[in-house]
Amino acid sequence: MTEPRSDALVFFGATGDLAYKKLFPALQAMIKRGELDMPVIGMARPSWTLDRLRERVRASLVDAGGLDAAAFEKLSAQLRFVSGDYQNPETYQRLRQALGEARRPLHYLAIPPSMFGDVMQGLAAAGCAGDARVVVEKPFGRDLASAQALNGALLKVFPESAVFRIDHYLGKEAVQNLLYFRFANAFLEPIWNRDHVDSVQITMAESFGVQGRGNFYEEVGAIRDVVQNHLLEVTALLAMDAPVGNDAESMRAEKLRLFRAMRPLDPAQVVRGQFRGYRDEKGVAAGSQVETFAALRLEIDTWRWAGVPFYIRAGKCLPVTTTEVMVRLKRPPLAIFDDNDGHGGRPPANYFRFRLSPEVVISAGTLVKHPGEEMRGGATELVARSLLGGEDLPYARLLGDAIRGDPALFTSRESVEATWRVIDPALRPDAPLIEYDQGTWGPAAAAALIADERGWHDPGGSG
Ligand code: BG6
Repeated sequence: MTEPRSDALVFFGATGDLAYKKLFPALQAMIKRGELDMPVIGMARPSWTLDRLRERVRASLVDAGGLDAAAFEKLSAQLRFVSGDYQNPETYQRLRQALGEARRPLHYLAIPPSMFGDVMQGLAAAGCAGDARVVVEKPFGRDLASAQALNGALLKVFPESAVFRIDHYLGKEAVQNLLYFRFANAFLEPIWNRDHVDSVQITMAESFGVQGRGNFYEEVGAIRDVVQNHLLEVTALLAMDAPVGNDAESMRAEKLRLFRAMRPLDPAQVVRGQFRGYRDEKGVAAGSQVETFAALRLEIDTWRWAGVPFYIRAGKCLPVTTTEVMVRLKRPPLAIFDDNDGHGGRPPANYFRFRLSPEVVISAGTLVKHPGEEMRGGATELVARSLLGGEDLPYARLLGDAIRGDPALFTSRESVEATWRVIDPALRPDAPLIEYDQGTWGPAAAAALIADERGWHDPGGSG
């Protein structure tokens, strides 16, 4: 059954950072694809003029390196601006007027979760919620209890089918390719389990700091910012069973089963770090205990994965900006060849490497014999690389899906609560925090988490 399309896009937080960095470029891309033929209404508390908002959109597109004059003009013409306090009912009356004939708006909440309750009530009271949909940003809550409360507030006004919890990682080409690669090929399935997989590592490294978002970051920290959402979603795509079909319900059902099988984190298996200099950032408390780095070991209690460690690591001010997955396979049961790596060590075991950004790379690490009489070999990667030809704008993809009412790439209520259940034990305010130098791979203690003589796989800067 096709769902009705939304007929207006309303975005709260129009003057904010997220709109500037991610949303405006996405809106332009949607205009170019002909997917945004509707009023676009920016909402914010500062009393800007519409022209000021248009200038901000222009600056954002220039900054993102892709101002398209024709698309910008079209977007400018569709743009409206409504300013006002989110607690004041009149703000929503003005929104109702700006919506004109539109009856099925999509409300995108790029605002702190603490304001969701007021916005929900305001929308409902002004008749802006009826056949509407709502997109809410991550992190969805701060922990399990607040996520449950937030779900309660949202679901008082909207049915679950109208709530789209966004995680832009799911709109990334490379992340979709993980799912495709796993289930479009048959060769992987027989080895994708505890009998053949030794360990899995996921590293999300960023070489930059908090980029002026100190206020936001102080509220979240690395675990809430990217582990609870982006990296657990990637883990789910790597580890879930095959869905029975490509429909939203089947996909979400398998992911949910996997999230529920994740064992709540053991605080002894979590290392939190903070880069030196973080406390000097604008908006950051002098004695901040917020982590800018986290490394952890996760267990998945299923027949497929029991005993296979999943190591997850994310951090700011690390040596490179890249997200990479390393699936290490077990070694052959017998070492037939007198093989070594030339330094007395054994050659590497086979692996699969999925580089999710900045480029998309899928590769298999194998051993191939060196020419000569000796039965010795070396590591060779079989590489499938897909360089992104066009724009990889996950927000454009996901907003387009939400406008069409397709929930496949959004997180369900049960899933978001299941992930917080996993994360909650790592959020104790008194959990230890270790400083690390900028440009390093975080605190040395992260190495001790890995029960593997090969240690962490540190992804390179390119390839
Ligand atoms: C966001 C986080 O969700 O993802 C940021 O809030 C992070 O801290 C960003 O930098 C990374 O996403 P991308 O797609 O820009 O690599």
